[in-house]
Amino acid sequence: MNKIIKKERLADEVYRMWIESPLIANERKPGQFIILQVDDDFGERIPLTIADADPVAGTITIVFQSVGRTTHLLAELEPGDKIPDLLGPLGQPTHIRQVGHVVCVGGGIGVAPLYPIAQAMKAAGNKVSIIMGARNRSLLIMEPEMREIADELIIMTDDGSYGCKGLVTAPLQELCEQSPKPDLAVIIGPPIMMKFASETTRPYGVSTVVSLNTIMIDGTGMCGGCRVTVGDETKFVCVDGPEFDGHLVDFDNMIKRLGAYKVSEDKHHQAHHCQLDDAAAELKG
Ligand code: FAD
Ligand code: FES
Ligand code: MG
Repeated sequence: MNKIIKKERLADEVYRMWIESPLIANERKPGQFIILQVDDDFGERIPLTIADADPVAGTITIVFQSVGRTTHLLAELEPGDKIPDLLGPLGQPTHIRQVGHVVCVGGGIGVAPLYPIAQAMKAAGNKVSIIMGARNRSLLIMEPEMREIADELIIMTDDGSYGCKGLVTAPLQELCEQSPKPDLAVIIGPPIMMKFASETTRPYGVSTVVSLNTIMIDGTGMCGGCRVTVGDETKFVCVDGPEFDGHLVDFDNMIKRLGAYKVSEDKHHQAHHCQLDDAAAELKG
């Protein structure tokens, strides 16, 4: 169980892994995630979306960006290695339904969690427009997979190195201005992008779902690490989410809480890059 079957590099620091996990592969639904631990004893637990699953092969797929200590450790694992602890499927599945026209908006690594949702929305009979955004071409992931599903695919890069230059909110607004306007927007990406994309759809009254990437620890609703404010209510992303009405989420509060561990996260990140520099220097000479 939890054996890595295959590993692929999708972009700079972005990896796709196929992991043997027959029970999760059988049960998972789009929108759900796992929590895994890479360090045996005192390691932290991190959530990652189940990007795909193959119940016949008994495997799940994760796509992750190596951004800090735990994802760096995960990226160092190779096929044949085992992940010590892996829990799931967690969270509420996406409410997949036929609404007509669904716009799926993915920013950066958010394209990975968006993929199973876009796939299921298409299978449910919706017209699916996909807007993918990245800082530059080298950071864009899963374009072929998305192209296969999309009725319309729009690519945006911050620097114009691929697709159109600009932010995902520009084509999203254009789609909202069309008649008929989209029936639903599903937006996944960095919190600031989800905030502005939700503000883009708000004046047009387009229903908007966002998938929140808060800090998670236990993933069972006990620790409070993933607490967010949605409308007048306090919600726990791990058990009530990860998807919520984007027009009701208090993004400013969420962004503030996400920074809580920044100092120690940055320390580990810098230490990792120093190790890489040392290794490179050793190789050179
Ligand atoms: P750190 O340097 O420790 O942290 C980097 C940043 O990651 C932090 O600033 C914080 O924003 C976030 N983070 C840190 N610890 C946690 C934690 N325990 N829980 C949640 N976020 C944390 N990333 C992907 O690359 N692919 C995915 O499919 C994906 N799916 C996710 C699904 C959910 C429901 C959530 C909540 C997050 C998801 N993430 C995904 C984000 C991923 O969990 C973080 O990138 C990861 O935890 C970073 O850990 P680190 O130790 O490598 O980096
Ligand atoms: Fe602990 Fe959600 S992760 S309550
Ligand atoms: Mg960490």
